[in-house]
Amino acid sequence: MKTSAIKIDNELSPNGFSVVPFAENPRLQVVKLASETVKEFIEQVLPLGVQAIEYKPFLRFRIADILNKLTNDTLGASLLSIIKNRGTGAFMLQCEPIVANFDPLEFNILLSTAVSHLIGVPNLDAMYGKFYARFSVKNEDDSDSYLRQAHRRMELHNDGTYVKERTDWVIMQKIAEENMEGGDSLLLHLDEWQDLEKFYNHPLAKEDIQWTSPASKNVSYKIQHPVFFEEDENNQPKMLFIDQFSEPLNMPQGQYLYEMGTSLEAEKNTFNVRVPVGSMLVLNNHVWLHGRDKFLANKGLYRELLRQRGAYYENAKLVEN
Ligand SMILES: [Fe+2]
Repeated sequence: MKTSAIKIDNELSPNGFSVVPFAENPRLQVVKLASETVKEFIEQVLPLGVQAIEYKPFLRFRIADILNKLTNDTLGASLLSIIKNRGTGAFMLQCEPIVANFDPLEFNILLSTAVSHLIGVPNLDAMYGKFYARFSVKNEDDSDSYLRQAHRRMELHNDGTYVKERTDWVIMQKIAEENMEGGDSLLLHLDEWQDLEKFYNHPLAKEDIQWTSPASKNVSYKIQHPVFFEEDENNQPKMLFIDQFSEPLNMPQGQYLYEMGTSLEAEKNTFNVRVPVGSMLVLNNHVWLHGRDKFLANKGLYRELLRQRGAYYENAKLVEN
C-alpha cells in the first residue's frame, strides 16, 4: 500500500485568506481569514441572523456565496482541494482578530454554515434536530455515551458510522470554553496508522459489521457495513469505525474490533490539536480519525462545540421518506 503524499494545489492563489501547514503535522492545513474578509462577512451576513438561515435553507447557500465572493471565488475551491486531497484532507479555519461589535455565537454559527456550504450539504443532526448540533462538556455528566464525559479520553473514531446518511466531512467548531485544561482534539491520518495494513488485509476487513447507537442519538435503526467500506480513486482504503457503537455478532468480529480499538489507542502518530474558541477543525471523515483527550477535573469546566457533518455536493441525495 502506498502512503499518501502531501500535495498542495499551487494553482490556487488565496485571496483574502492564507494557508500554511500546521507545525506538528503538515497534512493539517491552517486556513486563516484576513481581518478585511471577516469584517465584510460580519457586515453583510450578520444582519441576516441565525434564525433566518435555520428557517430558509437557501440562505445557507447565500451566505456561503457571500464568503466566497469576498475571496474572489478562491476560498471554496481551496477548501475543497484540501479536504478532497488524501495527502492533506483536513484544515483548521481561523479568523484574524478584528475590532467590531458583534454577537460571537451568531457569528460562529453563520461562519461554520458558510464553510459547510462551500464543501457540500450538511445532514440533519438527529441528536439536535437541526443541520448543526451544539453540545457541551461539563465536569459532571450522566449521559449515555462518552461524548460528554470529561475525565476520560474519547477514543479515535470516524463520525457517521451508525447512520444511513453519507458523512464525507465533519466540522467541529469551538464555541466556548471556561476553566479548560486538557481536552485537546486528537487526530490520526489513516495512512499514518502503522497497523493499517494488518487490519485492511484481514479477512474481516470487508465483512459487514452491525452498528447501533444509544437513545440520545435519536437514530432508531441499526445499519451494516464493513469497517473498510470503500476505496478512493487510487484504490486506497476509506474507513468508518467507532468502538462504542459496533455490535459484533460472533467471536472473530469481537476480537477483530477489540484489536483495532487497542491498536488505534496505542498509535504514536496520533497528535493533539488545541482548537481556540471561534476556530473550527474540518476533516475528511473517511481518511482522518478524531477523538478527544481527557480534561483535567475542574468544577467550573465548560466547553461547547458546534458540529456539522455532511456530504460533498456530488454525494448529496434526496431523502426518501
Ligand atoms: Fe466524532
